Amino acid sequence: MSSQLKKAGVLGATGSVGQRFMQLLADHPDFDLAVLGASSRSAGKKYVDAAEWKQASLLPTKVADMIVKECTPENFKECDVVFSGLDADYAGDIEKAFVDAGLVIISNAKNYRRAENVPLVVPTCNPEHLDICANLKKQGKGFQICISNCSTAGMVVPLKALQEKFGPITTMIVTTMQAVSGAGFSPGISSMDILDNLIPYISGEEDKLEWEPRKILANIASDGVSFDIIPEEDFKISAACNRVAVIDGHTECLSIKFKQSPPPSVEEVKAALREFRSPVQDLGCHSAPKNIIHVFEQPNRPQPRLDRDRDAGYACSVGRVREDPVLDIKFVVLSHNTILGAAGSGILIAEVLKAKELI
Ligand SMILES: NC(=O)c1ccc[n+]([C@@H]2O[C@H](COP(=O)([O-])OP(=O)(O)OC[C@H]3O[C@@H](n4cnc5c(N)ncnc54)[C@H](OP(=O)(O)O)[C@@H]3O)[C@@H](O)[C@H]2O)c1
Repeated sequence: MSSQLKKAGVLGATGSVGQRFMQLLADHPDFDLAVLGASSRSAGKKYVDAAEWKQASLLPTKVADMIVKECTPENFKECDVVFSGLDADYAGDIEKAFVDAGLVIISNAKNYRRAENVPLVVPTCNPEHLDICANLKKQGKGFQICISNCSTAGMVVPLKALQEKFGPITTMIVTTMQAVSGAGFSPGISSMDILDNLIPYISGEEDKLEWEPRKILANIASDGVSFDIIPEEDFKISAACNRVAVIDGHTECLSIKFKQSPPPSVEEVKAALREFRSPVQDLGCHSAPKNIIHVFEQPNRPQPRLDRDRDAGYACSVGRVREDPVLDIKFVVLSHNTILGAAGSGILIAEVLKAKELI
């Protein structure tokens, strides 16, 4: 891996995802946090004055005095990579302007996840999709990578492990219990709405969970710059999304059906999940978790408060693997929504790009 420090910028640096980027980048051995951007409300202020810091760790000293900039390509032109934690209402135009200016952008927003030449990546699941960036780079342009929706991120990792070992999954029913940090800070969810409560609706979320796995689990197309998205009839997904009174960590109950008949046994499924390795581990990426998936035997785990920080939030935890009387197998998966589901994945993607000399 190249040892040269790469200059990094962060758009939406003051928000829920942006603050995770600050935590994870402040002392990162591969990246020099060089430029921070947010809305015109924050631009011109010191970060410490612009952001209401809501993380358990102290605001990194290096970050506190940095001046927040407007999100223009000119302000970020020195960056080797730009991470975006922008609100989707503004990400579309801003991120396009950055790519058009030749920059490399790794985005958490939903706007370009379905775009043809944009890899949709959870780095512990499908880092091989980043290989199309080599072809995009040869065209001498900027390029963009999207991180999946935060709930998609947790479930596609065990799905990939099972697909790799047992072949295609044809049907999935998933019910999520999603943390409040996933709703962002401005305005976020009020305590009156969520305490002693559960909200059985998250706008636009179910559609993302029903579409994104079909791109993430697809192969790269023969043109080398797009993807053979799995047709809907070959992988049917039904999602029900709920917001619950948990700060961080999305929990999901999945039932799946394999194309293979008879399906693998419960013990074979657990072994495949435990044994799953990702190329990010072999590339020596700094943030790669030691275990990509933790499999619990204890029947009441995983739990968000106890298990969300496993492997610093980059691993996902699976429990309650058992036979499903309607489909084949069911289990619970938990992942950290602002680490594996957002900023952490962004950084691990950039570590892969650096290891492959794509930035
Ligand atoms: N939270 C999660 O778990 C999660 C997970 C995966 C993906 N995402 C996605 O990540 C993105 C950020 O989510 P979040 O939860 O961090 O949201 P958030 O807490 O509301 O933060 C939004 C950020 O966007 C900035 N912003 C707002 N309007 C802007 C404008 N006109 N120009 C430039 N910057 C502007 C805000 O800056 P100011 O402080 O100056 O207003 C803030 O830094 C969203 O697209 C979201 O869907 C979130």
